[in-house]
Amino acid sequence: MTVRRDFKEPARCRPDQVIGREELFTAAREQLGRGGSVLLHGPAGIGKSTVLRALAAEYGGAARTVLRCSPTESESHLPFLALADLLGLVLDEVSERLPAAQRIALESALTGRGESTLQRDGLALRLAVLSALRALADSGPVLVVADDLQWLDPASAELLGFAARRLGDTPVRMLCAVRTDGQEYDRHLRASPPDTLAVRLGPLSSAQMSALLDHRGYTGLPRSTVRDIHRTSGGNALFALELGRALAENPTPPRPGEPLPVPTSLRALVLNRLEMLSQEARRTLLVASAGARPTLALLHAAGRDN
Ligand SMILES: Nc1ncnc2c1ncn2[C@@H]1O[C@H](COP(=O)(O)OP(=O)(O)OP(=O)(O)O)[C@@H](O)[C@H]1O
Ligand SMILES: [Mg+2]
Repeated sequence: MTVRRDFKEPARCRPDQVIGREELFTAAREQLGRGGSVLLHGPAGIGKSTVLRALAAEYGGAARTVLRCSPTESESHLPFLALADLLGLVLDEVSERLPAAQRIALESALTGRGESTLQRDGLALRLAVLSALRALADSGPVLVVADDLQWLDPASAELLGFAARRLGDTPVRMLCAVRTDGQEYDRHLRASPPDTLAVRLGPLSSAQMSALLDHRGYTGLPRSTVRDIHRTSGGNALFALELGRALAENPTPPRPGEPLPVPTSLRALVLNRLEMLSQEARRTLLVASAGARPTLALLHAAGRDN
């Protein structure tokens, strides 16, 4: 494998141009076109936020109100935070149209001034979120854009779910994304309307990966290097871009057959995922990666607690 040294990420690249994902866009557009909701799911770095932003830009124009939230892990313990992000800016517009009990419950939950909890104000709060969305939709279509649902605080998830299940034909569409490692996206569907279309983002093809690297300025990579990046990254866009960057920054590019340099940023991400595994699974993986031809019997033995 040879690596040319004349590629660098140019300042003028437009990171949000979406490469590939045609089938996903077709399915999502069909669903959103008929007033439905969409949940994108898949592993870290696969491209969920990229697609979410593109669809939000496309459908945001047709909505009268666009509500957004993008929770983070460090803030996910704060009750009602996502709901405050979603409804904070429209609270003045809707609160006068809510019955007093709902208005008080919602205002104290969203402003953090009162001592609102789901236990104490349960029904009033749930109805308030539903009424607020209905009130907004009375004036025109509403688009809710929620990224990183895995970090939605549980109180907001509960309230959104309650409203979503009752919106019926009200023109409120939800466009959400959630990071998942397997098929555990279904519990996140509880925060979306019942007929939500869940779409999993799979790996990019080798040609798409090559286009992605080109587009980000990592041009001139030999085909064998692009193949190595595709294989090592498993078709994951973030992993591929990080590998591309590490190659661009590496003063001594790997020789043919040598493994690609793995940047610290990626190592941390992969280690995080490994830490979620059991002792047995980690031991099995260690033996699998160290053995020249690990047999099934060897892996079984490695995984056993003895
Ligand atoms: N189809 C694509 N076309 C162009 N760039 C992409 C595509 N998919 C992903 N990328 C790029 O790859 C990187 C990771 O993508 P993104 O942030 O959308 O992943 P994600 O699935 O939202 O990850 P996370 O779970 O960490 O939020 C970004 O730099 C993004 O611009
Ligand atoms: Mg994302």
